[in-house]
Amino acid sequence: MANDPEQLSRIEAYLSENLSPARFKHVLGVRETAVALANRHGIDADQAELAALLHDCTKERLDNELVALAKHNGLPVDEYEKQTPGLLHGKVAPFVATEQFGVTDEVVCDAMRCHSTGAVKMGPLDQLLFVADFCEPNRPYTAAQEVRELAERDLEAAVLEVMQFKLRKTLLKKQPVHPDSFHAYNALLNKRNRETV
Ligand SMILES: [Fe+2]
Ligand SMILES: [Fe+2]
Repeated sequence: MANDPEQLSRIEAYLSENLSPARFKHVLGVRETAVALANRHGIDADQAELAALLHDCTKERLDNELVALAKHNGLPVDEYEKQTPGLLHGKVAPFVATEQFGVTDEVVCDAMRCHSTGAVKMGPLDQLLFVADFCEPNRPYTAAQEVRELAERDLEAAVLEVMQFKLRKTLLKKQPVHPDSFHAYNALLNKRNRETV
């Protein structure tokens, strides 16, 4: 079913009020890329649009607000998230999406939940948002351009590329790797290796 234009306007107004101009621009870039990739790969473009618009809706909340949002909704907070509450922004986004905008589609919510770490099981919309977040047109790095081209041909290969890029960056910064990222990477690598045997 097509998205309700009135709902989309309310979401845009919320985002422009709750995000910095640069982040809002990023979100609109993710939307554009997500919809284009959805059309390209035969994925539902309305679900892609909603997930893209809402994926960073809590990105600029304060650390204590993110933890409170998780606790209030019964979401367990692990040791990594306690240390770096920003990691929670994807997992708690669906709570705001449901409460503020009545978004209850679990496919859309799942894509928001795993958009920064990936997940062991990623459906087409999860993969699409994960990649679109990385390679939307406002991303300055050259890897984004490469991923954009790869995603046109092979979305799953693009996911693997993004995972590798993010892991390398985390390691170079000597930061801890969240287990979700680690498990997601291993799962996808194993899947692709099995398929080539
Ligand atoms: Fe994010
Ligand atoms: Fe994002």
